[in-house]
Amino acid sequence: MIAEAKKQIIKETVPVLEEHGTEITTVFYKRMFEAHPELLDIFNKTNQKVGDQPKALAMTVLAAARHIEDIETIVPAVMGIAHKHRALDVKPEHYPIVGKYLLEGIREVLGEAATPEIIDAWGEYYGKIADVFIGIEKEMYENAAWDGFKPFIVKKKENVTPDIVRFTVDSDDVDKSFTPGQYITVKVKPEGYGNTALRHYSICSNDAADGIRFAVKREAIKGKEGVVSNYMHDAIEEGDALFMSAPAGDFKVEEDHDKLLFIAGGVGATPVMAMAEEAVAKGKDVKYVYSCINEDHQPFKDQMADIREKGADLKVKFSETEGFLNRTDFTGSEDRQIYICGSMGFMGTMMKELKEMGVEESRIHFEPFGPKMSLGA
Ligand code: HEM
Repeated sequence: MIAEAKKQIIKETVPVLEEHGTEITTVFYKRMFEAHPELLDIFNKTNQKVGDQPKALAMTVLAAARHIEDIETIVPAVMGIAHKHRALDVKPEHYPIVGKYLLEGIREVLGEAATPEIIDAWGEYYGKIADVFIGIEKEMYENAAWDGFKPFIVKKKENVTPDIVRFTVDSDDVDKSFTPGQYITVKVKPEGYGNTALRHYSICSNDAADGIRFAVKREAIKGKEGVVSNYMHDAIEEGDALFMSAPAGDFKVEEDHDKLLFIAGGVGATPVMAMAEEAVAKGKDVKYVYSCINEDHQPFKDQMADIREKGADLKVKFSETEGFLNRTDFTGSEDRQIYICGSMGFMGTMMKELKEMGVEESRIHFEPFGPKMSLGA
């Protein structure tokens, strides 16, 4: 239990810290990596540069202050983050390091106002949040299909669009079971990158008889080129070994959801493809609306044709010629549970459209590509 006086200090200082979230994050990251350069083998250098992930971490600690009276209530909200931590092999001993430098960020931003009482209260409070994460992650480590990173052999590498590659990887040494909607995490060391890099890629098929299939989009936007996605496209070939941690993630179709509407845009088709295949195999009523620029950019044509043949109501809309998805594409879905996946922009537009259609939030389930908590949730 945190003492009442300390809780009061936390509540009073949260607004000013939230206002200076970016500054805290900058100090926190800079100092942490100066002291612990080995952590650059875990953190995503691209996201750091862009600023999404560090900000998401710091803002999550601050946002959790809303639940200071009952810290355990943050558990459901942090499950997705804990899955990512488990997939990245974040361990209990890492938490005090992050805590130390986060506190330095707070101290720096508050300047002279950072009394020992304030720093002490935030230190204790961070420890409580860290304990919640460590507890959840302990259970996830115990239940993971395998420990750490294991080598898989790339059996197949296929271009499914000009910028998406589908990999099939296999290993005889591990239990390859997973839940459609989950992702695997690869550990690679691209030449010239200087560190190992870890990246999550969604599993794109329910069928793992010949190995796990996942897809990688080449990130080629100028100034934001993805070192790792380009490396996966250009350097990893059939026959190569690829180190992967066990499937993770909590995006999945609930058992008792039998009438479904999947909505996906661009590479958001990846987890949805696995989920739709699973739902069709289970005999569920599946409607799937997919949007991409044009036919060249439509991934998984073979898998889409297969679910259509097996009864799914699949609609593919090309934005170049037919415009973006809108409510007319979702008619007849009043009693369906809705699962959405795509970029942040796509998600935002779809959520707005569904809300305006009067769809209850409880029917909408989503997975954005990018740090989820930076949505401000
Ligand atoms: C990702 C929160 C501790 C390493 C994240 C994300 C959040 C977060 C919100 C973004 C999740 C997303 O992408 O949806 C926290 C909180 C922590 C904490 C509140 C403390 C209580 C740690 C520790 C480490 C760590 C101790 C390891 C040193 C990472 C890494 C990522 C991540 C590597 C993914 C970065 C990336 O690859 O983009 N964390 N985290 N976190 N966290 Fe934590």
